[in-house]
Amino acid sequence: MDNESLVLDKPRSPRRPAARRSNFELYSWLFMRISGLALVILVLGHLFIMNILDGGVHRLNFGFIAGRWSSPFWQFWDLAMLWLAQIHGGNGLRTIIDDYARKDTTRFWLKILLCVAMVVILFVGTLVIFTFDPNIPSS
Ligand code: HEM
Repeated sequence: MDNESLVLDKPRSPRRPAARRSNFELYSWLFMRISGLALVILVLGHLFIMNILDGGVHRLNFGFIAGRWSSPFWQFWDLAMLWLAQIHGGNGLRTIIDDYARKDTTRFWLKILLCVAMVVILFVGTLVIFTFDPNIPSS
């Protein structure tokens, strides 16, 4: 009897050699926790300032936003909120697609759609924050 036939697979042995596996899911798990914490401050702060403090939503108009975005601090706040919420939400949706899409092609196209939506929203949002012109001539 040759020795080869006596060798058993280890229980739960990895399908791929460990060296070839990436840590993407680990970093994505970590990112969800860290961005979630940052979003608590960014989103609750945003909600409080824009909707509750000092007259709340009634004082919001073009002039208010123009004043806010004249400050690099609020530009950075809104940029961080946009990027973190978009990537956090997008990565969360990626998990949901993986969980619920039954066919490989459905999963593939939903992820392509998600990716395109994320890139478009990040691009347009970032463009607005940095190219906002408070001096639009009134007609
Ligand atoms: C307010 C602060 C937030 C906190 C503390 C938070 C925290 C988290 C955490 C820890 C997860 C991972 C859950 C898991 O792995 O099982 C998660 C998932 C998710 N988050 Fe957030 N999040 C916040 C805001 C947001 C926002 C603003 C969005 C949308 C733009 C969002 C969309 C999602 C989605 C779609 C998932 C995936 C849910 C799933 O896997 O079933 N979250 N969140």
